[in-house]
Amino acid sequence: MENKVRFAVIGTEGIGRSHIEGILRNENASLAAICDVDEPAVRARAESLGLPTYYTDYKDMLRAGGFDCVVICTPDSFHKDQCVDSLNAGCHVICEKPLAMRIDECEAIIAAARASGKHFMVGQVCRKTPAFALMKAMVDRGDIGELFYVESEYAHDYSILGRGEWRKDPSYIRHPVVGGGCHAMDLLRWIAGDPTEVFAYANHKMLPDWPIDDCTISVLKYPNGVIGKVLTSIGCKRPYTMRTQLFGSKGTILGDNKSPYITLFTPCINEKGKHSFKEEQIPIDINHHNMAAEISDMCDIILGKMPLEIDVIEGANTVAVCLAAVESAECGLPVKPHYFG
Ligand SMILES: NC(=O)c1ccc[n+]([C@@H]2O[C@H](COP(=O)([O-])OP(=O)(O)OC[C@H]3O[C@@H](n4cnc5c(N)ncnc54)[C@H](O)[C@@H]3O)[C@@H](O)[C@H]2O)c1
Repeated sequence: MENKVRFAVIGTEGIGRSHIEGILRNENASLAAICDVDEPAVRARAESLGLPTYYTDYKDMLRAGGFDCVVICTPDSFHKDQCVDSLNAGCHVICEKPLAMRIDECEAIIAAARASGKHFMVGQVCRKTPAFALMKAMVDRGDIGELFYVESEYAHDYSILGRGEWRKDPSYIRHPVVGGGCHAMDLLRWIAGDPTEVFAYANHKMLPDWPIDDCTISVLKYPNGVIGKVLTSIGCKRPYTMRTQLFGSKGTILGDNKSPYITLFTPCINEKGKHSFKEEQIPIDINHHNMAAEISDMCDIILGKMPLEIDVIEGANTVAVCLAAVESAECGLPVKPHYFG
């Protein structure tokens, strides 16, 4: 392998654009190939990037080769086959979240990743969102003492989707808790550990023409007696947000993916000698689509400079928690996630 990690991107016109930008901006990376089923779009993209060729079938691209890592930015229904085929072609992979929609798809990807020995990163990008990374670091270093309650959300309005119509395709049900709620579920798993049990209620009031519930509230039990909750709404009437609160024995942290600061509350004695709370606003960069960090990490992982954190098992276990919430809302009982070892 040359010094630079050579990337190929499948799905160039949506979130794939952020990955391409991340590759172009990274001195350890080069963009070797792109593929999209939208021929006019991918042709124009190749021209603007100065690439001599482009592909409309990812299998042709894999056969041609000439890259080390494939970045999969296609609708979720394509993830399983594109991941497995890319691994079988001897490539490392970054797959956009969610890893997949179903347990059997996760199992197929895990098996292929293990057989290949290649690095497989799942794009749970909230772990690279500066606000959330700082909140996690503060918890880990004990700034708020012992956690007892955590909450997050994925609140979006999909009634104005534009190009993402595949999200409501009835032939491949994309449950919002797995498709989008996986961001919040993954964030809390990262901070509080693997939930042991989930209970959920769901309704279907905001997007009646969609084939699936559009709002789910999940209540979760985490290790060490921590409890938590995740809201997933894809029909809410407000701008996209992931408001997140972490409650500990010595303080509370509030943050989200769109604000220029996070807030830390800690108990104090005020100037009148009374019990009060100190409120600190800690400035932060807003970057909720930090694909550049994923590309940078993958370069370092492939070049042997850092270990892989968000591996295929991490991605699959986040899917497992989301699916447990979906099952609970359907059956009306608490459900234990089916974790992958
Ligand atoms: N990490 C994040 O914050 C984030 C944000 C948005 C989307 N996503 C994920 O990224 C993936 C893509 O979502 P999007 O919003 O970019 O969708 P999109 O529809 O905007 O873009 C998908 C692109 O893939 C192309 N495509 C579709 N099928 C293909 C195929 N079989 N082969 C090659 N190209 C194909 C489409 O033409 C399109 O250009 C999904 O898994 C989604 O969950 C992640």
